[in-house]
Amino acid sequence: MEVTLPEKSITFITERRLENVSLVGVAVKAICKSIPLVEALSRNIELSVVEGVTNAIKHAYGLQQGNNVEITTLVFDDRITIKISDTGKGMDPQRCEDCREIDFEPGNSKTLPVCGMGLHIMRSIMDEMYYETTSGKNTMTLVKRFKNYDKHTGDEA
Ligand SMILES: Nc1ncnc2c1ncn2[C@@H]1O[C@H](COP(=O)(O)OP(=O)(O)OP(=O)(O)O)[C@@H](O)[C@H]1O
Ligand SMILES: [Mg+2]
Repeated sequence: MEVTLPEKSITFITERRLENVSLVGVAVKAICKSIPLVEALSRNIELSVVEGVTNAIKHAYGLQQGNNVEITTLVFDDRITIKISDTGKGMDPQRCEDCREIDFEPGNSKTLPVCGMGLHIMRSIMDEMYYETTSGKNTMTLVKRFKNYDKHTGDEA
């Protein structure tokens, strides 16, 4: 398997407080801007990461204080990969597939699924999304490829 090294990468850690999630969003947006990526694409990537970090804080850690969430951003020529890791309660990786199809009417809040929207939104935005647990560390990996876009204008190629 060919392994390509990222052009740039950064790892940052946030305490598991929901108040910090907006700062993660600001950081991811700034990283996307530095690539540079078109605004609409950056916003979608930011939204996915914010949903993923919120899930780690809410579901993996149950909003208790203590452990951290680690975010690693890898910028390649043709894609951006973001890894969100926690050491809390893991989830079944199959959820990343099951959330592809959910039955609801956009605009009708009464039909919003009780299972939540976050994973579905992330799945819809990103080209790859997978979850794994290794030695007690849970990692959600999100990949957005630039191949179908002009990364500067956001136009589909
Ligand atoms: N990082 C995670 N760790 C543990 N469980 C998770 C994680 N992410 C998601 N889950 C589980 O998957 C379910 C669906 O997540 P999803 O983000 O789609 O919805 P939600 O967080 O419940 O609601 P919403 O995101 O719409 O506010 C969660 O309720 C939770 O049980
Ligand atoms: Mg969620």
